[in-house]
Amino acid sequence: MSVLDSFRLDDKVVVVTGASSGLGVSFAQAFAEAGADVVLGARRVDRLAETAGLVEAAGRKALTVATDVAVPEQCQALVDAAMQTFGRVDVLINNAGVGTAHPATRETPEQFRSVIDVNLNGAYWVAQACGRVMQPGSSIINVASVLGITTAGLPQAAYSASKAGIIGLTRDLAQQWGARKGIRVNALAPGFFKTEMTDEYKPGYLESQAHRLILGRLGDGRELAATAVWLASAAGGYVTGQTITVDGGLTIT
Ligand SMILES: NC(=O)c1ccc[n+]([C@@H]2O[C@H](COP(=O)([O-])OP(=O)(O)OC[C@H]3O[C@@H](n4cnc5c(N)ncnc54)[C@H](OP(=O)(O)O)[C@@H]3O)[C@@H](O)[C@H]2O)c1
Repeated sequence: MSVLDSFRLDDKVVVVTGASSGLGVSFAQAFAEAGADVVLGARRVDRLAETAGLVEAAGRKALTVATDVAVPEQCQALVDAAMQTFGRVDVLINNAGVGTAHPATRETPEQFRSVIDVNLNGAYWVAQACGRVMQPGSSIINVASVLGITTAGLPQAAYSASKAGIIGLTRDLAQQWGARKGIRVNALAPGFFKTEMTDEYKPGYLESQAHRLILGRLGDGRELAATAVWLASAAGGYVTGQTITVDGGLTIT
């Protein structure tokens, strides 16, 4: 196999959560271009249908499943649907997430819990469901954030805790499922990528962080998705338990 062939994911089945917008769309499209069929989960099914169109335009099959990752039964149903339609799950991209910013002395329990419920708990429910059916050679990629490693000037206790939690979850699942199940588990820590999440920042916020962008620009979702393809493929076959930072250099500032 040539080195470039080792990046291909022909006929693999990939589950992408949060596939209705932003980075989830980039992941779905990239994995389809790499040869995989893609199972798309999120709450907005109309938007999932648009992502499915992109997967099909790349010549691969898509399955859309209405999924709220905060509900464990819906996470199990997403993976059950993938198994019923395709008979296997080779890759999970645990990408669904929400971002909030509340000063710590004013954040309510509901506000804090709602972020942890989606970003951390939701990722675990989907990983559990996948871990029950994945065969040796499979791979899980959890989407963390640079906010799991550093700060960025906003009051984001819930978001940062959820993303630091994802990094711990990644380490532990990697050690539980490595030799025993042959499943590699890694995380991505993206810096700033323009999506609906970053569109919610107040005017001037991104500009206030611009001095930390060593490459002088925001990231492109295709650059993050290409890293995920590498991690999920045979090319990344000896990488597990790691958090790969894709941030244009932000975390060295
Ligand atoms: N953009 C960045 O700069 C950046 C940086 C670091 C990390 N990230 C991480 O990247 C991931 C994707 O974010 P994004 O930037 O692409 O933002 P986005 O465009 O807002 O996408 C978020 C996705 O998560 C889904 N989602 C939210 N709550 C959900 C729930 N309860 N159940 C199922 N799906 C849910 C949304 O779908 P529905 O609303 O249709 O359910 C949507 O598809 C997140 O984990 C985020 O924390 C982003």
